[in-house]
Amino acid sequence: MLLNAATWGLMLTGRMYDWRSDGRGGMAATIASAVRRLGEPVARTAVRQAMRIMAEQFIAAEKIETAISAAPQREAAGYRFSYDMLGESARTEEDAERYTEAYRHAISALGGGFSEKPEYERAGISVKLSALHARFETPKRQRVMAELLPRLRSLALAAKNGGVPLTIDAEESDRLILTLELFEALATDSALAGWNGLGLAVQAYTKRGLPVCDWLIALAKRSNRRIPVRLVKGAYWDTEIKHAQVHGLPDYPVFTRKAATDVSYLVCAHRLLGASKYIYPAFASHNCHTVAAVLHLARDVHGTTEFEFQKLQGMGDPLYDSLMGDAARRTPCRVYAPVGSHRDLLAYLVRRLLENGANSSFVHQIANSEVSLDVLIAGPRGRLPRPYTPNPRVPGPLELYADRINSTGLDLSDQATLETMAEQVRMNRAAAANVAAPSGLTVLYEPGHLTSPIGSVKLTTRDELNTMIERAQAAFKVWSNQPAEFRASVMERAANRFEAERLELCALVVREAGKTYADAVAEVREAVDYLRYYAQEARRLFGSLSLMQGPTGERNTLSLNGRGVFACISPWNFPLAIFIGQVSAALAAGNCVVAKPAEQTPIVAQRAASILIESGVPRFALSVAVGTGEVIGAPLVADSRIAGV
Ligand code: FAD
Ligand code: 2OP
Repeated sequence: MLLNAATWGLMLTGRMYDWRSDGRGGMAATIASAVRRLGEPVARTAVRQAMRIMAEQFIAAEKIETAISAAPQREAAGYRFSYDMLGESARTEEDAERYTEAYRHAISALGGGFSEKPEYERAGISVKLSALHARFETPKRQRVMAELLPRLRSLALAAKNGGVPLTIDAEESDRLILTLELFEALATDSALAGWNGLGLAVQAYTKRGLPVCDWLIALAKRSNRRIPVRLVKGAYWDTEIKHAQVHGLPDYPVFTRKAATDVSYLVCAHRLLGASKYIYPAFASHNCHTVAAVLHLARDVHGTTEFEFQKLQGMGDPLYDSLMGDAARRTPCRVYAPVGSHRDLLAYLVRRLLENGANSSFVHQIANSEVSLDVLIAGPRGRLPRPYTPNPRVPGPLELYADRINSTGLDLSDQATLETMAEQVRMNRAAAANVAAPSGLTVLYEPGHLTSPIGSVKLTTRDELNTMIERAQAAFKVWSNQPAEFRASVMERAANRFEAERLELCALVVREAGKTYADAVAEVREAVDYLRYYAQEARRLFGSLSLMQGPTGERNTLSLNGRGVFACISPWNFPLAIFIGQVSAALAAGNCVVAKPAEQTPIVAQRAASILIESGVPRFALSVAVGTGEVIGAPLVADSRIAGV
């Protein structure tokens, strides 16, 4: 209850007053009533106190020196340590320097005194790469290689010289390839040759877990070193699921069944144990079944005792204390011990809270007296459906919504995708390089490449604007009388076209609006979502109207089914998304549109309009008027023939 209360508290303190009245039961209601009775300051103090208690549970010490001085007693009992200097996802260069300094300091505090011990018994450090650089992400690969790698290398050299094993933690899966690249650079660095203290954590919950094990074995062979590998299940499951949904990825990078992760873990363990000449495996788990299965695999199948277990500070103590006390099964266990201040604990703590609070988690189940021993010790293989199917309770990232599909994204953590996108921008640039400017047309240039033309536009005159409005009025009679289903399917056809041409549209947005790739992808996806959303809304709101007939059988043309001609005036910062949002809402509802895009971004708008027209919007039901707010926008707003703006 304390864990849950603190989780809720941590996540929601800022909003406690909002959900006092939400009527939900359980913890939310308990906290809400506590807030009501005690007042917010008291509740905040209680949560702060709960955080302090949990910090004491999960943090070894605030300073590395204190942590080191407390270690000998536990080391005598068979434990080893790897110190994690708290801090991750640096936001600024200052943060990154502070975290790097903390690691450097820890290495020098650990070096020396412990180097008498055999190399795998020494206390080491665990490093999160996201702490060392504020832009540890694939699109910034060049900077990562130029700035993060030297920083990491200098830590590794210090660790090698001090005889301190250094393991790189596994973080979010979109950082995996970059992590492997950095690890490979260190593993093949001649200055670090012959050092067997350079290790990496591998997550079994990712579908790439086993290939990563194989890759590491091959790397150890070719770089002539033995690599310590810490096998974990993975601590970012919730993040991975949400990330894939938010970014519209075709599938999840992680398994969606807990038993699949457990099986993957054992398969990876088997693979690593079979390569003990190249790998020194460490098995990090608090799950009794996993630990027992690894012991069996190691001893009975591979006949080796060359491995260790690992546990987190504050977790799994009963399990490992009992293992240590069992002479026949005694295996060294390394404690992953976070060191630092409370203010750097939050992200780590939230992961521990999610892990401990999840129904599927072993530590949660063992504390639950309603879970029988048989269930607790059941092997994972029998819990998997055959043939394997993903967890039906976790719908695919594109199947989130009951009534429409999620827009498809692009995986920008994939180098190949980034290159394809860059190539598309280059191609668009080359194709428009020689845009001529016939008289009466205006050539537009990229805001970020002032000599690169994007295309040319014709500025709309007052007379032309007038004609657009008249034609839209005429088109309205036809368009507004189309069944809602027809208009909805036109919107959906357009959505599919936008999706099919998304690379090209992204390139255009990058060029005309000066957007980053990530923002351009989000822009196109938002447009697609708008089209599908308004298609659904048209069906929902107007769909039944065609059935509403008057007493003499005439079609009931309620004013709900379109009002007339709308002016849609959109800004430059979302040249496609907001443009389409406005236009598709008006069109789906049966209106006609004269759109005035921002004068900085008319080419994206014209392109979007032509896709809508090619998808079935009548030619004169949608016109794009190009020009400034004063020349086009203001007259549109003031025009009495315009039904809405
Ligand atoms: P279990 O209860 O058996 O497993 C829980 C795990 O199962 C979850 O964490 C998740 O990975 C997986 N899971 C849960 N639900 C599902 C589902 N629906 N579908 C698929 N899988 C599911 N984690 C990192 O990510 N990077 C690290 O570098 C790292 N270092 C660690 C170091 C040590 C020493 C230890 C002990 C842990 C480390 N962890 C790391 C955390 C580790 O990933 C979690 O503690 C671990 O997953 C818990 O597994 P378990 O075997 O103890 O518990
Ligand atoms: C985490 O930070 C232990 O690395 C793991 O959650």
